Amino acid sequence: MNKETYLEKLLPSGYQPVRAIASQYAPTNIALCKYWGKRHQGLNLPLTGSLSISLADKGATTSISYVDAPEDIIILNGRSVESFEPFYQRLLEFLNLFRHDIHGAFKIETTMNIPVAAGLASSACGYAALVLALNDFYGWQLSKSQLSTLARLGSGSACRSLWHGFVEWYPGESLEGEDSFAEQIQTVWPELRVGLLIIENKEKPIPSRQAMIQTAETSTLYHAWPKQVEQDMVKIKEAIKEKDFYALGETSEHNAMVMHALMMSARPPIIYSQAKTIALMEQVWAARALGLPLFFTQDAGPNLKLLFLEKDEAEVKEMFPSLEVVQPFLPIREVSDATE
Ligand code: PMV
Repeated sequence: MNKETYLEKLLPSGYQPVRAIASQYAPTNIALCKYWGKRHQGLNLPLTGSLSISLADKGATTSISYVDAPEDIIILNGRSVESFEPFYQRLLEFLNLFRHDIHGAFKIETTMNIPVAAGLASSACGYAALVLALNDFYGWQLSKSQLSTLARLGSGSACRSLWHGFVEWYPGESLEGEDSFAEQIQTVWPELRVGLLIIENKEKPIPSRQAMIQTAETSTLYHAWPKQVEQDMVKIKEAIKEKDFYALGETSEHNAMVMHALMMSARPPIIYSQAKTIALMEQVWAARALGLPLFFTQDAGPNLKLLFLEKDEAEVKEMFPSLEVVQPFLPIREVSDATE
């Protein structure tokens, strides 16, 4: 099974644009129980489930239109991306799946209010917004679960960025991946806060898709990961249901530490942390030892995301003055009007 065959089944035949331009927003998401390893590379089918929290107004707005040009025009945060850049190449590969050779090329314009490729899930919100825009542009009228499978083809974690709040991604069992999509968990937790501790905005030295393969193929510890995820998923879901913040934070932090431990045991080793990352972790642990319910999670980059509650926001901000605080349950408009 490849992407093309999957899409042939899912999309209406001979689709054409139904509007001149379509524009959509998708929030970025941070995994509390991580996705790290695939059962199928091409289709981005994960080995395990995962669970995330979306970051409300932090994300990507993407517009799509056709233009009369020799090649696709890709504009990221106002800058025209050159066709030799990896960002362009990767997007082009994805766009080629949806090109019905009319005349001209795609013009894709994306604005993100988070750093690109710095472990802040820029590809997640980018591909999710693009898929939502494609759905509008071509008038496919796909359900959000179907769109989630499309976003997954661009970047695995993108399938979780079609909703606000807590989102679970089911690994699925099918070889074609139609059962590997995400879904929103209904719990609303307005007091929850996510803090972005940006250490570095630069692109990561090794992309997550490559690091994931390297870990799964070379780490002698990797076999323990599915079991770890299975346990953490149960604990995190229970913590969300019960609004048990300590259990949520503790399990999420532990899950991230295990993922990074796997990476360190890869050959060659992968270390996204910098000295500053470790120093900040120690600061979090010291604060916790003094009674502050503060936790972190870390993705494929040196930056940390802190988890805490509204009541502790002032104290946490005082400790980390550069912290950008996100309210994941800030009431904002729905991610799209696609059918549920
Ligand atoms: O979807 P990708 O290929 O960008 O991988 C995401 C990997 C992590 O961010 C580290 C974990 C996750 O579940 O988002």
